Amino acid sequence: MKKHQGLMPVTADGHIMPGPRHRSQSKRPMWIIVLVSLVCLSLIGAYVYPPRRFSACYFLSSSVCSPFTDWLPPAPARIFNDDEIATRVVFRDIISMPSVQSKNPKIAFMFLTPGSLPFEKLWEKFFLGHEDRYSIYVHASKENPVHVSPIFMGRDIRSAKVVWGKISMVDAEKRLLANALQDSNNQHFVLLSDSCVPLHNFDYVYSYLMETNISYIDCFEDPGPHGSGRYSEHMLPEIEKSDFRKGAQWFSVKRQHALLILADGLYYTKFKLYCRPGMEGRNCYSDEHYLPTLFHMVDPGGISNWSLTHVDWSEGKWHPKAYRAQDVSFELLKDISSIDESYHVTSDERKQVRRDPCLWNGMKRPCYLFARKFYPEALDSLMHLFSNFTSI
Ligand SMILES: *[C@@H]1O[C@H](CO)[C@@H](O)[C@H](O)[C@H]1NC(C)=O
Ligand SMILES: *[C@@H]1O[C@H](CO)[C@@H](O)[C@H](O)[C@H]1NC(C)=O
Ligand SMILES: *[C@@H]1O[C@H](CO)[C@@H](O)[C@H](O)[C@H]1NC(C)=O
Repeated sequence: MKKHQGLMPVTADGHIMPGPRHRSQSKRPMWIIVLVSLVCLSLIGAYVYPPRRFSACYFLSSSVCSPFTDWLPPAPARIFNDDEIATRVVFRDIISMPSVQSKNPKIAFMFLTPGSLPFEKLWEKFFLGHEDRYSIYVHASKENPVHVSPIFMGRDIRSAKVVWGKISMVDAEKRLLANALQDSNNQHFVLLSDSCVPLHNFDYVYSYLMETNISYIDCFEDPGPHGSGRYSEHMLPEIEKSDFRKGAQWFSVKRQHALLILADGLYYTKFKLYCRPGMEGRNCYSDEHYLPTLFHMVDPGGISNWSLTHVDWSEGKWHPKAYRAQDVSFELLKDISSIDESYHVTSDERKQVRRDPCLWNGMKRPCYLFARKFYPEALDSLMHLFSNFTSI
């Protein structure tokens, strides 16, 4: 029950500690004594009628403690510890930093892949003619990729093994960001997988990302077993269960947010230690929770809450639908690229669906710039259709 510390100095056995020594007791007016007694009463009350967690009761006015909340003054926010104060002040300044004025603003395309990239030829077509406006980084975690396109050659960064669902996935993402941040022309950072393909032409993608100042990070609250059910109380006090969020791994972030991710040691460590497969008998995957939770806590208005990479979970299996060569058609790509509402469903038995319009600078726009998962065999059909579907 460390959570009392933010409210009043309380000793281990629950007594209120005396005030600062230099103040004279006798000069205190009566009302202070009354107030202190009231706070005392409320603390005792909270023990006598214990809610699941005292702070949750205090802040959320659950029905258990409504008699107290009727007359208690509004609760102060929890007092941050030293690490939180330091972290948050650094974050605040990073978030409010103006964009670096670059003569040659570029987008960093960061590929997270086990090995070779099956769609290099398609990406080459996408990048063709836009040479000063993009840069490519490849993190191949399993084997050295064989590049078939010259624009991918020499773009491999030093990489390390990635274990699915473990923090090493987040580490690889951070490694890509660190490499891409070295080029001060890079203003936006897109994370892509080997099975991702573009849905629009380069100019469309460039202006979509550059002419707005939010990051595209998927983020929603899922009270079910695959959402908050993965939360561990070891994350307290810094991360409360009510702040725990879920979202797809495939992000696209502006430069300030990329810096913020690298500057964070505090929340990262909490996920590294307490969000992993097999944690307390549950499977928690940091790549699905760390960034959504972090940004929900520190800059909720700065993120879109949906991912720019489309994936089809409608079959309800453990893995999303993967498209084979015969599945790829003009209609499929047109259907995906014209979706303009994001979709989230909770993993509890209520299966609550949430649809939100995809708003870009306040206007409804297509949600997705990229799509997964495509089998390598789909390359020829995609190449054939590319100019046609990206011109719409
Ligand atoms: C960027 O953010 C500011 C507020 O922080 C807003 O006033 C401005 O319109 C935004 N610019 C764009 C291009 O969205
Ligand atoms: C994303 O959701 C948060 C609430 O969690 C909200 O404050 C924010 O405005 C949303 N972002 C956009 C772009 O709507
Ligand atoms: C491109 O799209 C048009 C219809 O919009 C269609 O008639 C044409 O056959 C398509 N071309 C290819 C190569 O698919």
